[in-house]
Amino acid sequence: MDYIDASLLATAVRPDQYPDTFVPEVAFVGRSNVGKSSLINCLTNRAKLARTSSSPGKTATINFYNIKDVYRLVDLPGYGYAKVSKAEQAKWADMIETYLKNRYNLTAVIQLVDSRHKPTHDDITMMEWIRSFGYRPVVVATKLDKLKKSQIESNLTLIYNTLRLDDESILFPFSAETRSGKDEIMSFIEDICLGGSR
Ligand code: GTP
Ligand code: MG
Repeated sequence: MDYIDASLLATAVRPDQYPDTFVPEVAFVGRSNVGKSSLINCLTNRAKLARTSSSPGKTATINFYNIKDVYRLVDLPGYGYAKVSKAEQAKWADMIETYLKNRYNLTAVIQLVDSRHKPTHDDITMMEWIRSFGYRPVVVATKLDKLKKSQIESNLTLIYNTLRLDDESILFPFSAETRSGKDEIMSFIEDICLGGSR
C-alpha cells in the first residue's frame, strides 16, 4: 500500500482558527455516522488519522488534514443526529455553513450518503447548499459492503434521483471495509487539487 504523508494540521470551530489558504482543500460533508472520518482514513491509508466511532456525533470540530503539503482533506461535523441537542446541532450547522461559504481555497465539496438508505431531508438541503455555493455535485455512497449485490443498482439510482444528480454530477460507490471505490475517489481529488479548478 502506498505511504501517504498525512497529518492533522488544525482543528477549528471559528474562521480565525482555520489554517492559511495557500493550498487547495477538499471537504467532506454528511450525516453523523455516515463514514466521513473512515473515508479520510481509507484515502490516506491510515487506520487512526481521523477518529471514528460507532456512536454518531464523533467529529464536533472542523479538522484539517495536511496531505503531502500539497492539499488538504477537511473533515466536517456530521448533521442530522437527533441525540445531539438542538443547540449543538445549530452550532454545527453554523460552523459548516460558515466554512463552506467563505473558504476560497475550497476546491471541492464531497457529500457522503449511506448507500443503504434514501437520502434524508437534511441530505437534500445539504446538496442544495453545495449547488448554491457553486460547487459541482460530488457524492460518495458509503458502506457499500452492507448491500447485497442485487440491491446496489437500485439503491444508487434512488440516491441519484433523490439528490437530483445529473450528467455534471459524480456518484462514487464506496466501502471503507473493502476499500472499493477508494482509487477512483483519490484520483478525482488529486486531479482537481494537483491540476484543475472547481
Ligand atoms: P461523525 O463524526 O459522527 O459525523 O461520523 P462519521 O461520518 O465521521 O462516521 P465514522 O467514519 O466515524 O463511521 C461511523 C461508523 O460507521 C463507524 O463504526 C465505522 O466503522 C462505520 N463505517 C464507516 N464506513 C463504513 C463502511 O464503508 N462499511 C462499514 N461496514 N462500516 C463503516
Ligand atoms: Mg467523523
